[in-house]
Amino acid sequence: MTTPLARDLDRLRRIAEAGARPGRFAQRLHLMPPVGWLNDPNGLCQYRGAYHAFFQYAPFSADGSGAKMWGHSVSRDLLSWDYLGVAVFPDQPFDVSGAYSGCALVEDDAMEVFYTGNVKLTDDESYDYVTSGREANTVRATCADGVTLSRRHAVMGNADYPADDTEHVRDPKVWRRGDSYLMVQGARRADDVGEVLVFSSPDLERWRLVNRVTTERPFGYMWECPDYLELADPARPDGVARLLSVSPQGLSGGDWGRRNVYQSGFFELAGDVASSCELGAFSLWDAGFDFYAPQTFLADDGRRILVGWMGMPDEEGYVNPTVADGWQHCLTLPREVTSEGGRVRQRPVRELCALRRGLREATGALEAPLAGCCFDLVVDAAGPGPVRVTVADELGVAWEDGTLSMRFSDPSKESVGAGRALRFEPLASLTSLRVVGDASSVEVFANDGELCLSTRYYPERYRVAVDAPGARVRLWDLAR
Ligand code: FRU
Repeated sequence: MTTPLARDLDRLRRIAEAGARPGRFAQRLHLMPPVGWLNDPNGLCQYRGAYHAFFQYAPFSADGSGAKMWGHSVSRDLLSWDYLGVAVFPDQPFDVSGAYSGCALVEDDAMEVFYTGNVKLTDDESYDYVTSGREANTVRATCADGVTLSRRHAVMGNADYPADDTEHVRDPKVWRRGDSYLMVQGARRADDVGEVLVFSSPDLERWRLVNRVTTERPFGYMWECPDYLELADPARPDGVARLLSVSPQGLSGGDWGRRNVYQSGFFELAGDVASSCELGAFSLWDAGFDFYAPQTFLADDGRRILVGWMGMPDEEGYVNPTVADGWQHCLTLPREVTSEGGRVRQRPVRELCALRRGLREATGALEAPLAGCCFDLVVDAAGPGPVRVTVADELGVAWEDGTLSMRFSDPSKESVGAGRALRFEPLASLTSLRVVGDASSVEVFANDGELCLSTRYYPERYRVAVDAPGARVRLWDLAR
């Protein structure tokens, strides 16, 4: 049923979208909001052949303070997205403060959608909105035509979550296992320890808590946007990599101090996520400036595809200049995730190669202007020597002395990096470096996606320079 509130919001968002002037930093190959604010990818799936991406969307302001709804886009190639409108407005008693993040599962020719209905009880100084004043409803909806979500209703609420959790429980991800369904949700325990709750259901309607998963020692106070994935890999003990993906908040000390305020990564999981398991090493999905809240889905052809939010919440150090053009943030390029030889890798979806134009090839060094703003650079590193790539004169991507780094030469807010400075991670050897650029983003994939670094950037001039003694360098423009 459509409510008067949803009808009015829909009218207003159309007006806001009609006035959009996204400017020269509008992305060409990345999903971005028509106007206003975008954060997490939601409900990723392939339905009747088409790829669907929903996203956290607040069209009325670019600063992230607005009501969160679900924007909806579709694509045939994961690179060119058609915006369909808003699929969920926060107009119900169970989601009135925001239709927060969630997932979609294709079952019986319908999309089964789950998300968090966020409710903040009326402003009252007695609420802290962590342990009081907040409802985190798990909402289910069904989409049987690829556009309209119907039968929205809550299937769980605060009373269904463990009593020693705070009211921060959210971001359901659902998948089928055998004859039943499993769901993970992110949670913050009352003692400020992040964990994942695992629920099971015979029918997607009735859910029962079957496990709580966390690390032996506390690893941040909240784990947002969990996901569970299995990747075939003959090099793993039983032929499968089991990964629990989370976006932890509250990591501090040691190396965390030089990284982003929040992280996204995956634990290697041993055992059964739905009954008894242990978490092993944690690896970052991406160690750049702009990456958070990723989600994966299984494409019809068997690929496990990951998409993240190319942004970072609560980061004080920088501001996207696109706010002046009325919008902020975008999603990452979709990435194929694999486990090979025991190592997890992420590569841009292969569809990107079809957009390559005008190959320029060299050994050791290459300097070239670009036909447009989108490019794909591949450096096949030959030996132990350093590899240095400079993008738009101010962004340096380098592998040197066992470290992969991304550095803006001018850290001021008015520069290409808009206030960003340096991110780096150890990387013992380099076999290949791939750098993909769009109008206002650069994504780096080292060693066939063993280590990734993503950032937004705001260049004056699009050009690429490579200095990599002995290495084979190939550069393409990317265009449709
Ligand atoms: C992650 C997140 C989610 C939440 C959503 C709200 O960025 O905080 O936990 O569901 O964003 O927009």
